[in-house]
Amino acid sequence: MFRLDHEAENAVRQRLGVLDADAFLARLEQLSFDIAGPLGQLYGSVTDTTRLVTDLVMDALEAAAARPALLRLLDRRREIDPGWFQRSRMIGYVCYADRFAGSLRGVRHHLDYLAELGVTYLHLMPLLQPRDGDSDGGYAVADYGAVDPRLGSMADLEVLAAELHGRGMALCIDLVLNHTAREHEWARKALAGDPACREMYLIYPDRTIPDAYEATLPEVFPDTAPGSFTEVPGLGWVWTTFHEYQWDLNYANPAVFRHMLATMLTLANRGVDVLRLDAAPFLWKRPGTDSQNQPEAHLLLQAFRALTRLAAPGLALKAEAIVGPEMLVQYLGAHDRYQPECDLAYDNQLMVMLWSALATRDVRLAGHALSRRRPAPAPTAWVSYLRCHDDIGWAVSDADAAAVGLGGFEHRRFLNEFFAGRLYAVVFSFGGIPLIYMGDELAMTNDPGWAGDPGQAHDNRWMHRPRMDWARAARRGDPASVEGRAFAALRGLARARQDLLALRSGGTTEILPTGSQSVLAYRRAHPRSAPFLSLTNFSDVSQAADSGIIARAGLRDARLAHASTVVDTGAPWTDPAPIELAPIELAPWSFAWFSGT
Ligand code: GLC
Repeated sequence: MFRLDHEAENAVRQRLGVLDADAFLARLEQLSFDIAGPLGQLYGSVTDTTRLVTDLVMDALEAAAARPALLRLLDRRREIDPGWFQRSRMIGYVCYADRFAGSLRGVRHHLDYLAELGVTYLHLMPLLQPRDGDSDGGYAVADYGAVDPRLGSMADLEVLAAELHGRGMALCIDLVLNHTAREHEWARKALAGDPACREMYLIYPDRTIPDAYEATLPEVFPDTAPGSFTEVPGLGWVWTTFHEYQWDLNYANPAVFRHMLATMLTLANRGVDVLRLDAAPFLWKRPGTDSQNQPEAHLLLQAFRALTRLAAPGLALKAEAIVGPEMLVQYLGAHDRYQPECDLAYDNQLMVMLWSALATRDVRLAGHALSRRRPAPAPTAWVSYLRCHDDIGWAVSDADAAAVGLGGFEHRRFLNEFFAGRLYAVVFSFGGIPLIYMGDELAMTNDPGWAGDPGQAHDNRWMHRPRMDWARAARRGDPASVEGRAFAALRGLARARQDLLALRSGGTTEILPTGSQSVLAYRRAHPRSAPFLSLTNFSDVSQAADSGIIARAGLRDARLAHASTVVDTGAPWTDPAPIELAPIELAPWSFAWFSGT
């Protein structure tokens, strides 16, 4: 086990004072295995890892010493309540700061709006200084130490974070850690011949190695950015998984790890609560593979998690890993045994299954695939979402498709040809943190003029990244308007969810069979609360679920906790009311939530 030497331990006591030093050393004792283990495996062959670990722990110490007092209080609260992000009151909202409100300052003026909707977790899309011109929506960062000046400054970010904390809300931002912009200082210095900066990237003198890798590499943007390497005059062939201006970092170099850790700690000290780790599966490359989800990528995340916990225990890490289900859950630490890794991860499988069920009016594939996956480890949480700023990758495995009599390829192609709908009731009740995509609360549509902007015309993801329509928002109180109905529906889900303790993350979600192949039924259970049952009709005709399902779900004294319109009365069931044990009739695309005792 790793131990600090006496000199370093004294440094901790001097830098932090008695109470905080004691807490820091206690954390170090607890985390030392999670720090030294992965780093030894990653870098043992290239460097003296005892030295490296000591340096990184000292970096964490400096960050801990610089951590503002209010954030230390938040840390203390979160160490007492490590499940702070698992509460059923956690409701997320994701937007681009400029598209939502012009700037970070502008966002502050709309916090009442978010609070009205029930939001407690605000994810702002990339906001660090990007390269000029096309920046893949901010995912090509030129300076990790500065905020995009069009959005504001680091000081504005701090003020926003403090204001959110004052309202009991958490702030999530993107951290693009797989690549930098080619305008980043390291890339510029590498171009100028600095050997240390060359080592920050993956650069090859000719096509030999790139060709060997490309034999097994899939392309991320085959139409707009084919290939995974870019020829840079004077340098050679640079690894560029995404666009030619996004240079992949070389995580086999411990200096890259150390710098990226420093960035994480700085952002945490500005008040950021959650870092969305962009493109996490791509961090480590291996010849003969697709260079995604490599064991070393997990080791990197484990070490990042342990070292950020050491300095800023209130910070959580969220994996953006849009990969197949067996690989996805590993980002939450579900390996042979639980190995702490990211605290949160996007549940892209649930997202895909909802669209699939809507398109086919048949929940059998969703039921099959969702019931056979490994559960998220108890200390972690999924982020449940319906859509985001990216395109949808159809994460339907051939095996799952075959199990319900479908062809995987044909089904994925069918889905590509299909469309959109209203599925937030599942997002709010499947057990993850629900994440609302900006504008969905107002039933906002795509941006019809997206292709008019020459900087964006080549990337059709801008189609569904419209600017916030505040005129629409002003009509949200009008129950006769579409936006009024959408807003009330989402706010209703948020309110109902807050009181349903079974919806906290950390419990279990079990898919139950129903008499209808269009009704998705699942039971949530949490050791600290009564069970919960959700029924959702994915078809355009009404469906009956047999009344026995309530007993099979183990709900005693079941009550209707929340529902959309039901077929028999046509009235919304918003208040808990005793239910009759007749077959439960669900109107087209409606849902009903039940809670027991
Ligand atoms: C992530 C982002 C996507 C971006 C890519 C490269 O997948 O969600 O928008 O293009 O990373 O940074």
